[in-house]
Amino acid sequence: MTERVVLAYSGGLDTSVGIGWIAEATGAEVIAVAVDVGQGGEDLEAIRRRALDCGAVEAYVADARDEFADEYCMPALKANGMYMGRYPLVSALSRPVIVKHLVRAARQFGATTVAHGCTGKGNDQVRFEVGITSLGPDLKCLAPIRDLALTRDKAIDYATTHDLPISTTKANPFSIDQNVWGRAIETGFLEDIWNGPTKDVYTYTDSPEFPPVADELVLRFERGVPVAIDGVAVTPLQAIQEMNRRAGAQGVGRIDMVEDRLVGIKSREVYEAPGAMALIAAHQELENVTVEREQARYKRLVEVRWSELVYDGQWFSPLKGSLDAFIEDTQRYVSGEVRLELHGGRATVNGRRSESALYDFNLATYDTGDSFDQSAARGFIELFGLSSKLAAARDEKFGNAPDLGTQGGIAGV
Ligand code: ARG
Repeated sequence: MTERVVLAYSGGLDTSVGIGWIAEATGAEVIAVAVDVGQGGEDLEAIRRRALDCGAVEAYVADARDEFADEYCMPALKANGMYMGRYPLVSALSRPVIVKHLVRAARQFGATTVAHGCTGKGNDQVRFEVGITSLGPDLKCLAPIRDLALTRDKAIDYATTHDLPISTTKANPFSIDQNVWGRAIETGFLEDIWNGPTKDVYTYTDSPEFPPVADELVLRFERGVPVAIDGVAVTPLQAIQEMNRRAGAQGVGRIDMVEDRLVGIKSREVYEAPGAMALIAAHQELENVTVEREQARYKRLVEVRWSELVYDGQWFSPLKGSLDAFIEDTQRYVSGEVRLELHGGRATVNGRRSESALYDFNLATYDTGDSFDQSAARGFIELFGLSSKLAAARDEKFGNAPDLGTQGGIAGV
């Protein structure tokens, strides 16, 4: 029986050529699978037909937009997921949902191998292959660009000689990956890290330089998930789309950073994620009002680790699953409303209210109505500082008292 390979298909030059390239190199039949994670752009039926025209024996497109929003973006929002404190994990989040559809297709069509179009230098190859072996340990992985030496020049050559229905002239200098959670732009002149991004880099955001008038909105969350905007009920997908539109118009969520890839390379990355960044800002502030202090402090540590695991392609790992359970538990009371102002590149929270708030006006106020027992503070501090006091007395006994410097001067100067 002829072997079958399921290929993660984008409709672009590399994966289009990859169909014939894999078939020739391995003698296998290729099944092309495209997954819609809200990347927009080309009509998906056109992409499907192109795969067949390029020699795929089967081709289908999976609409995974709601699945992606519900099961990948929402956990990332609950985790305030940002790699290196800045990158909202746009591409890293989409790989596991694509993997799920690839493995499902492999089962359905009796394929033994799953292929993807990543190079050997990035994180995405790791995310695909670790994901594939996590969901289908018996499946083999193949990366035609990396393993079968399909370079861009060869791809253009192949497409021309085989008369493939794909443009080989489009001179887009960037490598772009986009979905509903955001957009990643790499390569070209951005590889010189002194060069600033030019206007043509961005499509999800307008320039924040000359913004329209400020846009204020009220976001309602239930257990960490946005459920309404200005009183109108929304699904997670709709919430992200609407926030992309409104925060994008104000230039919110542009990120320019040098990033530590899993393979050890430092790389320049430009992102735009208006909806994601606005939603995270609102969610973080609602957590500040509703999550107990110690739980909140610990959650910030968990968020860092969760983001690293997701970045590193460990979406299906046991530790990531355990951290998900912790994060989910912290969201029990993260319900309420946040008033958000979008303007000139910033998403600023200027109001919050929650039926499950831990904020207590009477405890916090400096005006009349104060219910806080001031006399309790004294004894608290005495005991809280006791161990430091004991240590300081010992230091003094051993001649290690801290140097307070000379009068009026700065110590050590
Ligand atoms: N550096 C980002 C990441 O690893 C984005 C990768 C985008 N992929 C691409 N083919 N442009 O998550």
